[in-house]
Amino acid sequence: MIRDFTDDEARRALVLKWGMAAADEIPAWVAEMDYALAPPVAEALADAVALGMTGYPPFETGGELGKAYAGFAARHYDQDVDPGQVLPVVDVTAGVRFALDVLSDEGPMVMPGPAYSPQLEVAQVTGRERVDLLLDPDADRAEIDLDHLDRLFADGARTLLLTQPHNPWGRVFTRAELEGIRDVVVRHGARVISDEIHAPLVLPGAEHVSYLAIDGTADHAVAVVASSKAFNTAGLRCAQIITTDPATRDRLVNVPMVRNDSWSTLGVVAAVAAYNHGDPWLAALVQRLDEQRSLLASLLAEHLPQARMRPLEATYLVWLDLRAYGHDEAAQLIRDRGRVWLFDGSDYQAGLAGHVRLNIATSPERLTEIVHRMAAALAS
Ligand SMILES: Cc1ncc(COP(=O)(O)O)c(C=O)c1O
Repeated sequence: MIRDFTDDEARRALVLKWGMAAADEIPAWVAEMDYALAPPVAEALADAVALGMTGYPPFETGGELGKAYAGFAARHYDQDVDPGQVLPVVDVTAGVRFALDVLSDEGPMVMPGPAYSPQLEVAQVTGRERVDLLLDPDADRAEIDLDHLDRLFADGARTLLLTQPHNPWGRVFTRAELEGIRDVVVRHGARVISDEIHAPLVLPGAEHVSYLAIDGTADHAVAVVASSKAFNTAGLRCAQIITTDPATRDRLVNVPMVRNDSWSTLGVVAAVAAYNHGDPWLAALVQRLDEQRSLLASLLAEHLPQARMRPLEATYLVWLDLRAYGHDEAAQLIRDRGRVWLFDGSDYQAGLAGHVRLNIATSPERLTEIVHRMAAALAS
């Protein structure tokens, strides 16, 4: 059910990831998958274009999109979502910025890092300071340090940007961890924005719990979700903010339209099709990613035995510690010598040396070639 793009197809379809790569490069950087669209999504889009559905989307909470997301959340996360509390936004990062701007107090925003790089500036563009809660690269398990979080709030931070599941940590936070976070947040009367874009991509062995499903979070949290990462439709511009209390929803809805008006009709069509009809394709995708995860582990053991791979509980984005190979700017070296395009760890945490993020949502053959090229580059 998962159809791999050929190189030519990928170059035509993924105009950023592949289109910007040189002819001899394998791109494994930006979070897009080298797979053809899920048929129900492709068909819904083709039908919508044939019908001329290229005008403005309706301004509404709930609607078809709200119902579709509520159904998806119930089936996949056993989560009760009120369709009327599903608010469209242009994309997840815009939703994070919007929620921060409208809902949060003025003080700094805590960002666990290394963090998804485009969001590193989100606090700043809303006039807030970002304070980092950085993972120790030598820590056995990637966890949010609650004592540190407590100190940052005590020092004046007012919002936590949670990424659940986390990119690039690869972690899916457990209910107990989320409850621990909730306790600290409540103690300080702070807010949480939970970026849950990767929730559909939880791999076997882990289970997604939305921060909103934790008791006592309704009055201080929103989640920002999308089908775009799991269904490869990021260019269609549609994400959703989920609220659990009407007062929060009303604060987001009752803003001047210009603050939140740019999601697209085709994005809504794709999201509704993915949520309503995408389950079989998504199951096949998760199985493929699980296989890619195992393949990568065996390729690393054979060809890059000193690489340290953080356990990948969700996403197709692997965080690799290559410090043992002694190159600070590992991604640049691998690109120059191996012609594989990865993200460097320093993109996610300024100054972090020797780490890379590798996108494994490709064919087994390409993943094998990527690791061979990385090993050769690091050895030379
Ligand atoms: C954690 C996280 N949030 C948001 C995004 C981007 O989402 P959007 O394009 O909807 O802003 C990504 C992309 O990979 C991501 O990893």
